[in-house]
Amino acid sequence: MSNSSEQELDKLVGDARTAIRTAEDLATLDAIRVQFLGKRGSITRQLKQIGTMEPSLRPRFGLAVNRAKRTLELDIERRRDQLKDAAVAEQLTQDAIDVTLPGRGSGVGGVHPITRAMQNMEDIFAHMGFETASGPELEDDFHNFEALNIPPDHPARAMHDTFYVDASTLLRTHTSPVQIRYMRAHPPPIRVIAPGRVYRCDSDVTHTPMFHQIEGLAVDRTISFADLKGVLTVFLRNFFETELKVRFRPSYFPFTEPSAEVDMSCVLCGAAGCRVCKQSGWLEVLGCGMVHPEVFRHVGLDDEANTGFAFGLGVERLAMLRYGVDDLRLFFENDLGFLRQFR
Ligand code: PHE
Repeated sequence: MSNSSEQELDKLVGDARTAIRTAEDLATLDAIRVQFLGKRGSITRQLKQIGTMEPSLRPRFGLAVNRAKRTLELDIERRRDQLKDAAVAEQLTQDAIDVTLPGRGSGVGGVHPITRAMQNMEDIFAHMGFETASGPELEDDFHNFEALNIPPDHPARAMHDTFYVDASTLLRTHTSPVQIRYMRAHPPPIRVIAPGRVYRCDSDVTHTPMFHQIEGLAVDRTISFADLKGVLTVFLRNFFETELKVRFRPSYFPFTEPSAEVDMSCVLCGAAGCRVCKQSGWLEVLGCGMVHPEVFRHVGLDDEANTGFAFGLGVERLAMLRYGVDDLRLFFENDLGFLRQFR
C-alpha cells in the first residue's frame, strides 16, 4: 500500500511539474494549480486519503504529500514570475519607440490670399496716412442707403440685390455705411479706410453672395479730385508693383458728385489686349468720386466748408488680377492645394 501510494504520488508530482514548466500563460498555470492543489485537486485528495491508511504508514506518507505540495507551490510561483516577466518584456517591445524614425513635421498654415491682399492694401493706405475703421455687417436702411443719398424709391437700390433681415435691417451691400458712421463720430480732417465683408444676393462665375470691399474716405477743407487721382494711382501702382496707367471715366453713384469709374492698364497682357481685358487693354477696377453735399448734410457736416473724396474697391477682383487667379470661386472653396501656393 505504502509503496504504491508513494509511486502514485511521484507520478502525480512528475506530471504536475511538467505541466507547470510548459504552461504558456497565467490562465493555464492557474488551471494547473486548481487541478493539483485546489480543494478537489489530486494532491489534496492524497492528503485526505491519509485517514484511510494504516496508522504506521501515515506519518511518512503525510510528510511526502506535504513535501510534494510545497514543491509544486514553489514551481508554480517561479513559473508565474517567469510568465509575468515575459508579458512585461513583450509589452515593452510592442510599445517601443523608434527614435530613429523621421518626425511627422508640423504643417504651418498661412493667411488666406484674400486676407493677405487686404493686409497689403491696408499697409499701402497706412503709408499714405489712412487709418483703418470698421462697422457692422448687419446694417440698417439709414446707414446703408438713406444717409448715402439713396432714398427708398431710388433706382440705385435695384443695383444692390439686398439681403433683407427685416423691413429696415439688412446685410450691408457695400462698405460705404462705414463712411457715415465714421463721419458722425469723428470731426474732419478724416483719412480712413474701411475693409470688410459685404453681401449681395448674387451668385455666378464672377459673383459670390459675400465678398470683400475696401472703402476709402478723406474729408478736409480743400480736398480735390486731384487728391483722389493721386491717392488711387499711387495705391494701384504699389499694389501691382508696376508703373501701370490709370484713367478715370465719368460714372454715377448717388453718394458722390462727380463720380468716376477707375480703369488701369491691363497687367495680364501689358495692355496689348487679352481675354481678361476683352482686348481693350484696360481693366475696370474701382468706383470713386467727390463726397456728395447731401451726404455731408446727413452726417451733420457743413457741406460748404468741407470737401472730400470716397472710393470703394473689390478685394477679390484686385486679388485675382494681382495673383493671376482666373476663377473667383477658388477663393471660397478652401482647396489646400490652391491655398498652399500663397504660403
Ligand atoms: N459703394 C460703391 C459700390 O459698392 C463703391 C463706391 C464707394 C463708389 C465710394 C464711390 C465711392 O459699388
